[in-house]
Amino acid sequence: MPRSELKKIGLLTSGGDAPGMNAAIRSIVRTAMHHNVRVTGIKRGFDGLLQGDIVELESEDVSDIIHRGGTILKTARCAEMHSPEGQEKAANICKILNLDALMIIGGNGSIAGGLSLSKHGVNAICLPGTIDLDLDCSEYTIGFDTAVNTGMDAINKLKDTSSSHQRCSIIEVMGRYKGYIALWCGIVGGAEEVVLPEEDVTTDQNQVIEQILSNRSQGKKHNMIVVAEGIGDSAALAKKIEDATGIATRATILGHLQRGGNPTALDRMWASVMGHEAVDIYLKGFKNRVIVVKDGVCAHLDIEEGLNYKRPYDEKNYKMMKILAL
Ligand code: F6P
Repeated sequence: MPRSELKKIGLLTSGGDAPGMNAAIRSIVRTAMHHNVRVTGIKRGFDGLLQGDIVELESEDVSDIIHRGGTILKTARCAEMHSPEGQEKAANICKILNLDALMIIGGNGSIAGGLSLSKHGVNAICLPGTIDLDLDCSEYTIGFDTAVNTGMDAINKLKDTSSSHQRCSIIEVMGRYKGYIALWCGIVGGAEEVVLPEEDVTTDQNQVIEQILSNRSQGKKHNMIVVAEGIGDSAALAKKIEDATGIATRATILGHLQRGGNPTALDRMWASVMGHEAVDIYLKGFKNRVIVVKDGVCAHLDIEEGLNYKRPYDEKNYKMMKILAL
């Protein structure tokens, strides 16, 4: 069949980059090629779509990227996609580009962008790519595992100095309004306390201070406190702890370090599986879906249903963390 007659899908990464996005790009491109589907890469997310910043992707364009953090397609946060005019314009460009479907790898905001395009007749197939794990309909998001490993590594290092000086260390980790990265880092890093932004958790700053004092009375000389970025000012919390306990306290904000780095095996694996599934369901004729992990396996949902899903807060693991920290 002449190349011009082959089916064509678009592919973009959007929002905050996440380790494993490249593995997903590779999987989508290679699976599409296998089925004689052309892939138009769109640079810089929806921003690039609105500017028509495109590149045809071939199999060799995605070689040697599975192990790289970031995204070869680049990414952006696109204010214009929040307006009805921007959404309509983006949908029209998809039609002009003759895209049979648009694959979107990103977090909540990017998937909401996919939903708005679907309402203008674009077949949007979304993959959850965010370090935050804050897409409630999926048990896993691409990049989460690498971000937690980066956090754990930082905690290990901070513990060396914190225990040598018998200090209290605060480490602030990313996660936007959710505390998944913080909770996991707290558990796998063996923290004394985790401060989460979820409203169901009652940890307030005075409780943290009481916990540190109680730890000291039981002979614990250093404390590691993981704070989710959604809580806010870690430096102010460090001062408050130091003033109230007399224990020297230092705050470290991990920040964007958590977004970089080579993706872990788990991120590469899920990114590969999700990318493959995205092309597979497109070929089967599904429209406007979000790929998720449900009950430990790859599945897919209607985008709107997925975005409306509310996952209960992880009370079990939070309680376990408190017990293990004693
Ligand atoms: O969504 C990923 C994330 O890294 C969040 O954890 C964080 O709140 C946000 O992006 C930071 O965004 P930016 O890189 O645009 O400052």
